[in-house]
Order: sequence, then structure tokens, then C-alpha cells
Amino acid sequence: MSSPRVAVVGATGAVGPVVLEVLAERGFPASEVVAFASARSAGSRVPFAGGKLEVRELHDDSFDGFDLALFSAGGSTSKRYAPEAVARGCVVVDKSSAFRMDAGVPLVVPEVNPEALDGHRGIVSNPNCSTIQLVAALKPLHDAAGLAHITVATYQAVSGTGASAVRELRDQSQALLAGEPAAPSVYPHQIAFNVLPHCDAFEGDSTTEETKLVNETHKILGDPGIPISATCVRVPVWRGHSEAVWIETREPLGAERARALLRDAPGVRVVDDPAASAYPLPSAAAGTDDVLVGRIRDDGSRRNGLSLFVVADNLRKGAATNGVQIAELLVGRGLVRVPDRAAA
Ligand code: A2P
Repeated sequence: MSSPRVAVVGATGAVGPVVLEVLAERGFPASEVVAFASARSAGSRVPFAGGKLEVRELHDDSFDGFDLALFSAGGSTSKRYAPEAVARGCVVVDKSSAFRMDAGVPLVVPEVNPEALDGHRGIVSNPNCSTIQLVAALKPLHDAAGLAHITVATYQAVSGTGASAVRELRDQSQALLAGEPAAPSVYPHQIAFNVLPHCDAFEGDSTTEETKLVNETHKILGDPGIPISATCVRVPVWRGHSEAVWIETREPLGAERARALLRDAPGVRVVDDPAASAYPLPSAAAGTDDVLVGRIRDDGSRRNGLSLFVVADNLRKGAATNGVQIAELLVGRGLVRVPDRAAA
């Protein structure tokens, strides 16, 4: 079987460079990897597999001759170019929210619902970062005891917003430590040394991030009937989203059994020894692909209640790694058509 030619769109943003890093690290079977971004970055160079790739400006015809396109360039770029990539023969793995809730678009976390890939029509969506780690941790508990209710409060890193937000946190922190003013630009308020109960845009009383977390969890778990209450909060952390999660299960489960189920869950690492101050931390998750779960305990305030704390690297498992794992499954299952170019 021939190996696919792979386009990485958004190669100069917060996620794109991590996609390149993960592709190289995992030895993704590509015949060629090409980096794309906007005209602003054309000609710049990004690291890949010990060398550098020259960034090309994205055009409609950029996708000719490619088989797979990994998009991390925001919703408007995906809406504009992903259908074009599909029309030109690519399978698209899209990190934006543009197509996630479309009925014909699989929304996939490989450890949770890989079977959804089978029905793809050219675009596969990579879920929101907060959703990926939540469903990875909750799926084994749902399978064992049935989720009756989920409450979640997130503590989300600035890299989830993009490279400009990472710069804003750095610049504001430096300015404030030097006693200088720190005007907000990416966020509506100062993010350094602050906490903003506001991720993404408000849509009525809730934010789009909160709505995504609810709707995407329903779609991935295949159970839109689970009541979910979410509050998403931005915190001055570079990398790694945290989530405090409270669940109620239909059947009794208990912390001991939940811990045992999570120890066996793919992609999950239990870090839960409070006596030794061992619990999930964004600083420990950063740079890894594990979903860290800890503080697992019975919650006596509700029937069949359980609390847990869930942390993952939002740029890796929450974005790049999940996307590359989807691409690996697509290739492994023969769901990407790769023409025999040598014969052409
Ligand atoms: P560029 O750096 O040239 O603007 P972030 O995740 O930090 O928001 O980055 C978004 C990524 O999407 C960047 O690589 C950015 O490229 C890229 N991008 C933004 N708009 C376009 C576009 N119209 N065509 C191609 N890439 C785009």
C-alpha cells in the first residue's frame, strides 16, 4: 500500500507545530509532509523530523496530489478550505469546531468511539480539547455504571486560544512584574495573575466553549440524554487543561472500582495518592499524551456520586495527538484512498 501525502494546515499556529512534532515522533507513514499557513508566513521554516519545512501559502489548488490534510487553522479557514481539500481527494482531519456537530461528520476520540470513522464522507472532526480529556476519563465509567449526570468546571490554558494568547500571557506577566500596565488585547481582561470565567464567545448566558463541551460529549458518548452542566474558565497556565468533574451514575460504582476501571482505560493514567501530594497537574501533563485522572473519591452529597480531577495537554491529546491518532486509524483501516503515484 502507498503512503499518503500529508498537508498540515496552520503549521505556524499553536497546534500546527505540535502536529508536525507528533507526526515525526510517532513515525507516521507519510510519503511526504508539507506545511501550509497564510500568506503572512509563506517562506518561513518550521521544525520537522530533525530538519525544517518551508511553509507554503494555502490556496484552493494546494490540495492537489495530497491524500490527507490535518487542519489546525481556525474555523473560518476550515470552512473555506476543508471542502476544497475533500473535493480534491483528501480526507480532512479538522481541529476546528466548524463541522463537529454536522450529522455526516464523525467526531472521534480514538480510545472512545473509533467505530464512528467508518461512516466518514471526507471530513472527520477532532473534538474540542476540553471534551477529549473529559470523555476519555468518563467513557469507562459510563460503560460500567451509566452516567446519569455530569457537572464540570474547567481551568483552561491560554495555548487553547492560540499563539497570540500565549504571547499575551508572557507579555502581561513581564509587564506586571516590572510594575508596568498590562493592557488586554486577545482576552477582554488581564489574563496574567487572573482567572476569567469566559472561554470563547458568549451566546446568551453560556459560552460557546460550554455549549461545545456539552454537545460534543453527547455526540461522542452517543447519549444525548445525559444532563451536563459546564462552566469553562481561562487560567494563566501555558499548557494543560484541568477539569473538576462531578458525576452521578445510574448504577452504584464507588471510588475504588472507578479507580480500577480508570487504571485499565486506554490513554488514561491514574495519579491519585493524595497522602503523597500526587494528583494530576498541568505541569506534569504538558508534553505527554496521557489523560491524568486523580482525586477520585465518593461524593456523598448525591446519589451514586463521584468526584474526579482530569488533566491533559491541550495541545497534544487535546489537539495534535488526537488528530494524528485519528489519521493513523484512517490509514490503518484503509479509509484514506492513496493512488499508486509511481504507476501514474
Ligand atoms: P499564519 O501564522 O500565517 O497566520 P493559532 O492557532 O495560533 O491561532 O494559529 C492559526 C494558524 O492558522 C496559523 O498557522 C495561521 O497562519 C493559520 N491561518 C490563519 N488563517 C489562515 C488562512 N487564511 N490560510 C491558511 N492558514 C491560515
